[in-house]
Amino acid sequence: MNLPVPGNPDKVQPDSFAFDATSEVEIAKALARYPAERKASAVMPMLYIVQDQMGRLTGSAWIPVVAMDEIARRLEIAPIRVYEVASFYFMYNRNPIGTYHLQVCTTTSCWLRGSDDVVAACKKATGISNFGETSADGKFTLTEVECLGACSNAPILQVDNDFYEDLDGPRTEALIEALRRGERPEPGPTIDRCGSAPEGGRRTLLEDAVAVAGIPQGQG
Ligand code: FES
Repeated sequence: MNLPVPGNPDKVQPDSFAFDATSEVEIAKALARYPAERKASAVMPMLYIVQDQMGRLTGSAWIPVVAMDEIARRLEIAPIRVYEVASFYFMYNRNPIGTYHLQVCTTTSCWLRGSDDVVAACKKATGISNFGETSADGKFTLTEVECLGACSNAPILQVDNDFYEDLDGPRTEALIEALRRGERPEPGPTIDRCGSAPEGGRRTLLEDAVAVAGIPQGQG
């Protein structure tokens, strides 16, 4: 029997779940990282594999209960040990979401650098009113998240597993419109920045290290 998804009563939990061939390749890689008797440690990558498969096959990257049960079976652990991990970490979606998961960081660095503008642009471009909602067309879910560990390139909008950095309102709207058209812009900085180096290029350690140390060329 299909059961309603808590908090999302118009959706239902599927009756069954099976990993596809793409996921099996990823599962083999995940299990290879741990001794056989410690394979329970693969629970986090396995949850990601389920979420990615659901996104690929259904357009909604979430983790049904039957999939958690399947992980428990594969790892030979009690289902509760999978449920407790999935419910502890915010990056696992236990409810169906939109095609694109917009996760806006509003913690200090991002807030100081304009996350309010990013949030406003997300709402304007999707029609979503509040965090936790999905757009009427089912394409976007908007979530507020804590620091994503990319503060040097704040403000950050994570879309599914990709980080879009150094955003402002107009660039956020343009990104969402591109997603709506089915495009996937290159993740990373959206300004003149290489990686997490300063805007406009390097400002320190400009001298050649070998020349500064006085080492003759060829011996450094
Ligand atoms: S505060 Fe936003 S990534 Fe750290």
